[in-house]
Amino acid sequence: MNNGRSSQHSVEIAGLEKSFVRSGSTEKSRGIDDVSFVVPKNHFFTLLGPSGCGKTTTLRCLAGLETADRGEIRMNGEAVFSAAEKRDVAPHNRPIAMVPQSYGIWPHMKVFDNAAFPLRYGRKTYPRNEQLRRVNTMLEQVGLSEYSDRWATQLSGGQQQRLALARALLCEPEVLLLDEPLSNLDAKLRSQLRAELRSFQQKFGVTTVYVTHDQ
Ligand SMILES: Nc1ncnc2c1ncn2[C@@H]1O[C@H](COP(=O)(O)OP(=O)(O)O)[C@@H](O)[C@H]1O
Ligand SMILES: [Mg+2]
Repeated sequence: MNNGRSSQHSVEIAGLEKSFVRSGSTEKSRGIDDVSFVVPKNHFFTLLGPSGCGKTTTLRCLAGLETADRGEIRMNGEAVFSAAEKRDVAPHNRPIAMVPQSYGIWPHMKVFDNAAFPLRYGRKTYPRNEQLRRVNTMLEQVGLSEYSDRWATQLSGGQQQRLALARALLCEPEVLLLDEPLSNLDAKLRSQLRAELRSFQQKFGVTTVYVTHDQ
């Protein structure tokens, strides 16, 4: 039901819990325990915590890649997950894009084709000329225009990070999920890209959930 909250909050998580059964054992280990937070529309929200505290699990639950045991997740006021109501909307039907820690760039594809992937096979597809226009505009925004025709593996770490971000933004997500996006980069690049991420978020006005262990 839409009770008017949709205009204020992109994400609402309430009482989320997830345990894992360890392989070769019947014992359960706790992934996340009673996680609740709200992310207002167009905000940049940071989840900070030590390794193993459940940041990735939380993001994967948001993305629909992991099914929580308890709790509720709303996006734009609509429940995408509810343990009580047995509701679990599939990842491709959630208004999100996720950049995993390893970027998820495809090595067998050119930079352009990596970026164009969601416009060819995603939630919303576009004809060829529109793919070309959107991808070229985005590659320009992230400073990768001149690399369009290179293999993705020929990019540096920072460039791969920008490509992963470009591809995620081309999905036009309501919510962008970033899992330790800077952790594979050296210190100098990290601080540069940290500032860039923030300015992209402001420029595109996309609600962002950013996960890091780095204060
Ligand atoms: N697929 C899994 N199977 C078993 N345990 C898992 C799995 N994924 C995560 N965990 C456990 O859940 C806890 C939280 O992990 P994770 O969300 O990856 O933490 P973080 O991203 O904060 O480092 C850890 O104890 C981890 O070992
Ligand atoms: Mg993690």
